[in-house]
Amino acid sequence: MNNRRAAFMISAADVTGCPQPRLPEYAFFGRSNVGKSSLINMITGVKNLARTSATPGKTQLLNYYMVDEDTWYLVDLPGYGYAKVSKKSRRNWEKIIREYLLQRQSLVYTFILVDTRHEPQNSDLELINWMGEQGLPFCLVFTKADKISRNAVRHNVDEYKKKLEEKWEELPPIFITSSHSGEGKNEINSFIAISNTENAHLIQQKPQKD
Ligand code: GTP
Ligand code: MG
Repeated sequence: MNNRRAAFMISAADVTGCPQPRLPEYAFFGRSNVGKSSLINMITGVKNLARTSATPGKTQLLNYYMVDEDTWYLVDLPGYGYAKVSKKSRRNWEKIIREYLLQRQSLVYTFILVDTRHEPQNSDLELINWMGEQGLPFCLVFTKADKISRNAVRHNVDEYKKKLEEKWEELPPIFITSSHSGEGKNEINSFIAISNTENAHLIQQKPQKD
């Protein structure tokens, strides 16, 4: 799939600061350093679109990107589980994200990212279970698949599925990705393209300026 046109649009401090909900929107969420910003750059094919860093906790606001010339929004959310954030500040942005996920009408899917190398972490499972309980549509994305062998990837993904099947009858859509090799790029882009067609009713014209 060709690279897309994508550009940074706005950083919102909370749901009230988000743009008018006039396009289908996809959020990327997961632990700090899991590879959210790298994945956004990978799927759009725009290098350095989202800021990536080896230092966890880099992404601190709801960062909006406009993709394919006014067709859909992509949102890079701040990572969770960053040890250096104070408890008070953590609770505050947890509230911000919860409100965003619950209230944003045009949010079509949230992509929840987990590191392929690790077994299911409690904070990830809490999020996944909470999304399920709230009935919020999400996909599960395994990141950094290039860092371990194919067998280990398969094993870890299967273990993850088993863990989810203990609680849920249905599994979410699952993508295995590597921002380094480009694995999963076409699959995620195709998924979003189909979803955009299904959600075309969300698209509203830009308000005309006087
Ligand atoms: P925060 O914004 O701090 O929450 O981090 P993030 O989830 O946006 O992670 P980011 O994309 O900044 O990546 C964190 C680190 O992991 C960087 O050093 C990336 O180069 C590295 N990384 C991300 N994705 C991959 C991948 O698929 N493979 C490998 N090998 N490294 C990756
Ligand atoms: Mg980031």
